[in-house]
Amino acid sequence: MSSTGWFETVAEAQRRAEKRLPRSVYKALLAGSERGLTYEDNIAAFSELGFAPHVAGGPAERSLATSVMGVDLALPVIISPTGVQAVHPEGEVAVARAAAARGTAIGLSSFGSSSIEDVVAANPNTFFQIYWSGGRDTIEQRFERARAAGAKGVIATLDWTFSHGRDWGSPTIPEALTPRAMMSFAPEVIRKPRWLLDFVRSGALPDLTTPNMGAPGQKGPTFFGAYGEWMTTPPPSWEDIAWMREAWGGPFMLKGICRVDDARRAVDAGVTAISVSTHGGNNLDGIPGAIRMLPGIAEAVGDEVEVVFDSGIRRGGDVVKALALGARAVMIGRAYLWGLAANGQAGVENVLDILSGGISSALLGLGKASVHDLTPDDVLVPEGFTRTLGAVPA
Ligand SMILES: Cc1cc2nc3c(=O)[nH]c(=O)nc-3n(C[C@H](O)[C@H](O)[C@H](O)COP(=O)(O)O)c2cc1C
Repeated sequence: MSSTGWFETVAEAQRRAEKRLPRSVYKALLAGSERGLTYEDNIAAFSELGFAPHVAGGPAERSLATSVMGVDLALPVIISPTGVQAVHPEGEVAVARAAAARGTAIGLSSFGSSSIEDVVAANPNTFFQIYWSGGRDTIEQRFERARAAGAKGVIATLDWTFSHGRDWGSPTIPEALTPRAMMSFAPEVIRKPRWLLDFVRSGALPDLTTPNMGAPGQKGPTFFGAYGEWMTTPPPSWEDIAWMREAWGGPFMLKGICRVDDARRAVDAGVTAISVSTHGGNNLDGIPGAIRMLPGIAEAVGDEVEVVFDSGIRRGGDVVKALALGARAVMIGRAYLWGLAANGQAGVENVLDILSGGISSALLGLGKASVHDLTPDDVLVPEGFTRTLGAVPA
């Protein structure tokens, strides 16, 4: 490892994260579900796409700047919300600072371990992510708090099936870090002294509560307390989604769209943006890799809403492929989590630098001056690659 902790690819950040993190924490980040079909296809599908390069006649400078939900971004990459605890003592605040340092926005998970107030203080370009949990009154309260904190938009995530089995094994997550729970984790933690040392130096143990899920004026519930509320809330209707959008009253993204008919309903509900996403393969196993579903959805609603993409992004070239196939920007999950685990805030900045360097190289190879100039012509899409789900016949 270099003395600064710098790494050259996201794959290397993942290797370092695996070395540094206790097994259970690493597995919580790896996540996935069931057989891992969707998790694997999210990444593998990008390898099936090629580029159609030019060798001369390109511009001298390249622009990566864009905007999503009214927020200006220096690069078309946003931090996707991840409800992961115990990766690093500074958690989402370190991620928010890194995103601010590189000119981009962060989505803060409602299951995150940092408060919305602390995250907005670290990066004013924060979107608050919310699940349909607890019903309208509770959601209204959470919106009020996010609004007061200064969140620039809301990301409503709906794609979750509460499946918890994985063929490669699930992490053990304690309800709270009681002395007894700590004893049971001692064998895996003792082998990862640098992870432990980071927490010891920060003066706090991993916090397994969800500060953004608490009632006004109260401490947040434990992760499992919050999960229980969510599990027992009946799923929302499309009217509920239209209500949510109205109740928030500002920029609003619906995350987890896989089908053209759902994308259309999202447009009808008045959303600002959708994210074509498989929740990184953590949701229903067997959904096609997300990039396969992007072209059909972008073609159907790309002129009516901002189409964002996530699931499987590991390099700048992946970002360019998604943009060429109709996304305005992408969101990243594991890529920055590996960076955070490997080297804290600097590790997340490192990941964003890897992606912006890769985007710039791909633009150079394709002879494009700006991310806005990318079109499907820049990408070689093999026959049978795309999967258009729920297309409404003309
Ligand atoms: C460990 C983990 C936790 C996640 N938690 C949340 C969450 O709380 N809310 C949410 O909207 N998405 C969550 N996601 C999904 C991400 O926002 C994003 O959709 C996904 O990670 C993108 O795929 P990628 O990891 O391949 O980039 C989580 C993903 C991971 C890997």
